[in-house]
Amino acid sequence: MQILTFDTYEQLSTHAATELVDLVAQKPNAVLCLATGDTPRLTYNKVVEMAQTRQVDFSQCAVVALDEWAGIPPDNNGSCHAFLHEYLFNPLKINASQICLFDALTTDPAAECARVNTWVTDHDGIDLMVVGIGVNGHIGFNEPGIAWGNDAHLADLAPITRTVGQKYFATEVPIEKGFTVGLRQVAAARRLLLLANGPKKAEIIRLTAEGEIGAEVPSTILRQHPNSALLIDSAAASLLNA
Ligand code: PGA
Repeated sequence: MQILTFDTYEQLSTHAATELVDLVAQKPNAVLCLATGDTPRLTYNKVVEMAQTRQVDFSQCAVVALDEWAGIPPDNNGSCHAFLHEYLFNPLKINASQICLFDALTTDPAAECARVNTWVTDHDGIDLMVVGIGVNGHIGFNEPGIAWGNDAHLADLAPITRTVGQKYFATEVPIEKGFTVGLRQVAAARRLLLLANGPKKAEIIRLTAEGEIGAEVPSTILRQHPNSALLIDSAAASLLNA
C-alpha cells in the first residue's frame, strides 16, 4: 500500500482525478468501480474538467457503483444513483448500457447482488476502484466484522453508518441496509485508491495504516493489496507515526 499525503484536499483530489483520467486516456473501455460520498466529490468535478481540457472520451467506460442505500428511490438526491448521474454519468456522457447500479428498490436482493457480480465477472473485473472510508473503517457498506471473501451483498448498516449517512439526505430517511460490492472484489481490483480528508478521518487512517490487519477494520485490506494507495490530506494524516 502506498501512502500519498497531500497538503490539501484539493491537491489530493487533483491527484486522484489525474489517475482516473490517465487510465481512461490509455484504456478508453476501462472498468471503474466508484464510490459516492463527500470525499470523492471534488475528484469527480476535476475528472469532468480534465476530461474536457484533455479531450479524453469517457463514453466507452464501464462503471459499477460501489454501493447503494437499500430502499431509497433513485430520484432521491441522497441516493448513489442520483449522485453518480449528477457528478459523472451525465457530464461525461457515459451510456446507460455501460452503467451498473444496484436497484435499491428490488424485491429480490439476492438476485440483484448476483446480477452485479455477473456484471463484474463479465467485464473481466475492475481496472480502477475509488473508495472513501467510514469512521469505522468501512469500505462501501462492508462494515466491521464482514468476511473478506464476500462478493456483492446486502449489508446491515452499522449504527454509526446509519447516523452519519443522514447527512446525504435533505430530509431524514430510514437507512438500515445497503447494497455493496464485496471485499473480495475490492481486493481483486487491479488498482485501488482510498481517499480520505479532514481531521474526522485521522484516527481511522491511523488504524488503517498502522493498526492490526483484520476484519474489525475492513480498510486494512488495502495493506494486503499489491497495487493500492491511500490518498490523504495532512489533517487525515495527522495521527500517523511514520
Ligand atoms: P464520506 O463517506 O466521503 O461522505 O466521508 C465515506 C464513507 O462512509 O465511505
